[in-house]
Amino acid sequence: MSTDTYRHERLLAALRAEYEARFPASKGAHARATTVLIDGGSHGARAFEPYPFYVREAEGAYITTLEGHRLVDFWQGHYANILGHNPGLIRDALVDSLQHGAGLQTGMFEERETEFARLLAETTGAERVRLTTAGTLATMYAIMLARGYTGRRLVVKITGGWHGANPMALKGVDRGASGFDAVDSAGVPEATADEIVVTPFNDVDTLHKIFRSLGDRIACLIFEPCLGGAGFIAASRLFMDAARQLTTQYGALLILDEVITGFRFCAGGVQRLYGVQPDLSTFGKIVGGGMPLAAVAGRAEVMAVAGKGAKNRVWFNGGTYSAHPLTLVAGQAMIAYLRDHEDTLYPALAARGAALRQGIEKVFADRGVLARCTGHPNDAIGGGSLAAIYFPRRDDMHPQSAEDMTDPRLSDVRLREEGLKLGLLLHGINVVHGLGALSTAHTDADLARVFEACDAFAKRLTA
Ligand SMILES: Cc1ncc(COP(=O)(O)O)c(C=O)c1O
Repeated sequence: MSTDTYRHERLLAALRAEYEARFPASKGAHARATTVLIDGGSHGARAFEPYPFYVREAEGAYITTLEGHRLVDFWQGHYANILGHNPGLIRDALVDSLQHGAGLQTGMFEERETEFARLLAETTGAERVRLTTAGTLATMYAIMLARGYTGRRLVVKITGGWHGANPMALKGVDRGASGFDAVDSAGVPEATADEIVVTPFNDVDTLHKIFRSLGDRIACLIFEPCLGGAGFIAASRLFMDAARQLTTQYGALLILDEVITGFRFCAGGVQRLYGVQPDLSTFGKIVGGGMPLAAVAGRAEVMAVAGKGAKNRVWFNGGTYSAHPLTLVAGQAMIAYLRDHEDTLYPALAARGAALRQGIEKVFADRGVLARCTGHPNDAIGGGSLAAIYFPRRDDMHPQSAEDMTDPRLSDVRLREEGLKLGLLLHGINVVHGLGALSTAHTDADLARVFEACDAFAKRLTA
């Protein structure tokens, strides 16, 4: 056993024992859950060892567990809850709609769908919109549109890029034994997997090489402007510009997956801050206001491939719950609010994000632990409300890709993913993948609690 492994095992064993003592009711709930649900639930990212805590209620920055522990939450509904958990604004809109006889699915045309689509189009600069129920479906339809429109087959995606369990992008998500070249799931048709080309984030040279050798076969390049699962690494302006220029030059489409970044940095896509207009964008999370609503938005000419005029060449169609009325109520209330408060809300979030990141780095440094946060401003985005803590092996590490963030030689990945999670939970802070997302409900007092928790964790590491 290496010294690192030995150190991890000892730390994790102690943390797990303390966690079990602190979250006993959740242990029972999880045991019951595993008798009927695979691994006790329906989303892998919600689970962790030894077992997840169970939530009784959630409000603002806080969640309350079965045990009655009130935790400051940075997962915030998979980063969807930019106004915090269960904000009054959305709750009131939903109640009002239900009280006026509208809300559950009708399966018909309703003007609210037009109003929501118009709001999304106006705030994102897209010409046409179509709605669906999940970010996964949105990215799948966007790729189908790109393939249908261009008549080409290849999909270029980024290592560590997560577009949901969409078979057409389920390659190179996780680091495998040989790097990021494997298909991530059984069941993906081999022909589909063979048509996915994976390239490292922020690596302009490799992107050029791929387009030089395969350019006339590429249907689209799809990526997240800020890599989510791989630790909130933002695209450099150089990479974004190269992506736009190469796709245009070779007749491929640029798809920006803004499921996380949409309305997270400004009231629209973060593409606006880069000054780039993609051919298609995908939105989810925040735009649903806490409800299952997602969208593909983009150029009318491309989107039209799904329409009657093109004989529905791309079957971006169906979905019993597509444009579900309550999701539109929530989404419309959310987007309108963010648009109306853009000038104050985003700078305030970014300022608090900067305070959070700087405070965390200082707390660890004061205890002699080298820890950094992602999410600092880059050459396009002036900082923001996403961050992940990582533990570099060297002071001069500047992660640019999933390769960097997941390489155990460059940083202590296990400490971030497992140790930090439990260590902070024991002090009332819930983080995922190293931290997560701020909401407008988080206050300076909540930040102070994070600093205390980080200090306690740093103290444990140096003991
Ligand atoms: C960037 C990105 N794209 C797509 C998805 C899939 O969205 P959903 O979980 O709503 O299907 C996610 C979900 O985490 C995501 O982060």
